[in-house]
Amino acid sequence: MSERVPDAPADSPVEPHPPADGADDARVGPAVGDLLELAVGAVAAGGACVARAPDGRVVFVRHTLPGERVRAVVTAATRSFLRADALEVVEASPDRVERPCPYAGPGRCGGCDWQHVALPVQRRLKAALVEEQLRRLAGVHRDVVVEQVPGAADGLRWRTRVQFAVAPSGRAGLRRHRSHELEPVDACLIATDDVEAVGAEALRWPSASGVEVVAAGEQRLVHVTSRGSSGRAVRTRLPEVAAGVVVDGRPVRGPHGVRHEVLGRRFEVAAGGFWQVHPGAATALAGAVLDALDPQPGERALDLYAGVGLFAALLGERVGPTGSVLAVESDARACADAARNTDDLPHVRIRTAPVGPQVLAQAGAPDLVVLDPPRSGAGLEVTRALAALRPRRLAYVACDPASFARDLRVLLDAGWTLGALRGLDLFPMTEHVELVALLEPPAQA
Ligand SMILES: C[S@@+](CC[C@H](N)C(=O)[O-])C[C@H]1O[C@@H](n2cnc3c(N)ncnc32)[C@H](O)[C@@H]1O
Repeated sequence: MSERVPDAPADSPVEPHPPADGADDARVGPAVGDLLELAVGAVAAGGACVARAPDGRVVFVRHTLPGERVRAVVTAATRSFLRADALEVVEASPDRVERPCPYAGPGRCGGCDWQHVALPVQRRLKAALVEEQLRRLAGVHRDVVVEQVPGAADGLRWRTRVQFAVAPSGRAGLRRHRSHELEPVDACLIATDDVEAVGAEALRWPSASGVEVVAAGEQRLVHVTSRGSSGRAVRTRLPEVAAGVVVDGRPVRGPHGVRHEVLGRRFEVAAGGFWQVHPGAATALAGAVLDALDPQPGERALDLYAGVGLFAALLGERVGPTGSVLAVESDARACADAARNTDDLPHVRIRTAPVGPQVLAQAGAPDLVVLDPPRSGAGLEVTRALAALRPRRLAYVACDPASFARDLRVLLDAGWTLGALRGLDLFPMTEHVELVALLEPPAQA
């Protein structure tokens, strides 16, 4: 049984390419619901594989692997392409495995697209996707390795934050792919045991539209979003949970945030604040950024899209009181956390503002820049402004290879050099990957 829910969860996986579906195409050819037998080719951005329909249209096929032959049902049809779900595998790839999760598969939970792919192969496919975007959008030919990150050896039980959607009945579940339908689940296999200990799936959440569960070890927090505007109906009928509770951003019961430790420093993150979901992510990213930038005492650093100050604090320690760090972040709550997380480092300044040419023009002449933008990337304007700042080194942390490759082209055109490029597998069982790139400016004339 499925239930309809109104809104997509904030962090549900997205397929950046191809563009959103158009209306069903009326021309003769396969239509939604038709079954096709397809020879499956390479994986495409978004995690589906590419095949050709009998009428020549490209088909993006989910639940398959390169080299397979499958029978697939068409799930969307536009003038230029089709989407399909592989229902039956006629010739299987040697890289296919039994899905560990009973809720994954065609028409089921949309959270993990690659449960049927052997874990080392997932990383090879992600590397191939990054290589293709670099080639296509930046003109860069580079072999990429996607590294396993400590904390999820089997690719399961790594999500320290899970966003559940809530049906009108009050039941929490996970969304189906590109759908408002809810897949009721008893447990999520990629959630950590600490997240599952809250038991959100078994409880009822009357008048709620979403429930986010965050857990860092024994510290657990539930952030409930109400269907109404006041949140009163949610607050009066909250189920018993062994966790702090926040409703629509308003604290109801403590604790109201969680603490993390990274490279010997403590970080506090309030409900709704950004923190990487993989338990090994913050340490792996911080290590990669510090390795790339090699900060020296007395240097001036700029941390853009700073979140709760992860990189700003660690850079602040390295550059010391003779140096300085300016952290720029648009979310006021994250800035409040960042200020608390750096309050022992008076040479670290937090600025609440959107990153843009104006902010960069006031940033002085930094020696080091780290930027960690959302999926859309920094964009052409910001990247051009960064190129003009000419820091000694720049570390670009990217969760979308396509937007990164677009921004990288801007820096390369301005004479910059791409140094080390690391791929980190922060999202096992999905096609998502995180990149950390070192960039250096052209030598001064
Ligand atoms: C991927 S997170 C990175 C956070 C941090 N570097 C970390 O690793 O924990 C991106 C951050 O950028 C912030 N953000 C999004 N758009 C922004 C903008 N235009 N200007 C400044 N910050 C922005 C978000 O609020 C979020 O905290």
